[in-house]
Amino acid sequence: MTATAKKHTDIELPTRPLTPGFGVEILDFDASTASPAELAAFDAVCRSNSVVVLRNQALSAAQVVGLSSRLGRLSSQHRDGPHPEFPQISILSNKKIDGKLIGIHGIGRNWHTDGTTYKVLGLTTMLYGVECPPEGGDTLLADTAGAFAALPPERQAELEKIQVVHSRAVLINKYKKFKIDENAESMKDVIHPIVVASPVDGRKALFLTKGSTKGIVGMADDAAMALMSELIEFATQDRFVYHHTWKAGDVLIWNDLSTVHTATDFDDSRYDRIVYRAWARPYELVSQTSAEEEIGPAH
Ligand SMILES: [Fe+2]
Repeated sequence: MTATAKKHTDIELPTRPLTPGFGVEILDFDASTASPAELAAFDAVCRSNSVVVLRNQALSAAQVVGLSSRLGRLSSQHRDGPHPEFPQISILSNKKIDGKLIGIHGIGRNWHTDGTTYKVLGLTTMLYGVECPPEGGDTLLADTAGAFAALPPERQAELEKIQVVHSRAVLINKYKKFKIDENAESMKDVIHPIVVASPVDGRKALFLTKGSTKGIVGMADDAAMALMSELIEFATQDRFVYHHTWKAGDVLIWNDLSTVHTATDFDDSRYDRIVYRAWARPYELVSQTSAEEEIGPAH
C-alpha cells in the first residue's frame, strides 16, 4: 500500500449520532473543498450508516452531481423536474418562473421507499437544500432495520417468508399527472422480499412501500395491503424515526434498503422551497439495470 493510500484509510471524520443507533451527522466537513482523503472518509461514513447529514454546505448543482456520484451511478431522471443543466438532478420545488413550476411539487407526502421497482434492489437518495422554508417541508426517515429487530422472533420468521409484488404501472397510476405509456404497461412486475439485508451493516430490514405494491404472493389483496399498512405503522413509530428539519445548505443521504421516508407539507403560498434530489445506484449494480427501469416516477 502506498503512503497516500494508507493516509486515505487513516482519516476518520468526526460524527455525532442523529438518534441513538440510527444515522450520523458529519461534523467539520466542507464537501466543496474536501481533500481526496476526506472524501474517501466521507464515502466510508456513507457506506456504514443508513442516514448521513451534512450541514452548512454551499454546493453548486455541478458539485451536487459530483458528491452524489460518489454514492453510485446517478439515475438519468427521465421524469418531471429535471435540472436544466444537470438532468441527473431532479428539482423538488413549488417555485414558479414565468408561471411555470421549476421542478416537481407535492410528491412523497406519505411513507414510502424510493427505487422499489428495480429488478435488483439498491438505491441511495441524496437531497440538497437550496432554499428551505422556515417551517414545514421536513423529511422523516424511519429505521426499518431497528423496527425489524424489535419484532418478536416468531413474527420475524413469518415475515421472512413474505414476497411482495411491485408494479411500475400501479405506481404510475397513482400519479395522475403521469400518463402511462405502453412501455410502463408492458413492464414486468418485480418481486421482492419484505425483509431484506441492509447494505450498511448486514442487519435484516423491513422493505416497505405502498406506492408500487400490487400484492403479496399467496395472499388476498385486502390482506396484503393491510399487512403493508400495519408494518409501515409499526416501523414509523417515533422511537424509530429521525426527523430532519431543513436549513439551506443541508445534505441528507439515506440508503433505501434500510429506511422508509416521507416529506411533510409546508405553506407553499408563503414560502418557496428548492431541494435538489439525486438517486444513485451502486456502480456494481449498473450492469443489472435496464433503461426502462430509469424511466418514470420511482416513489
Ligand atoms: Fe421519496
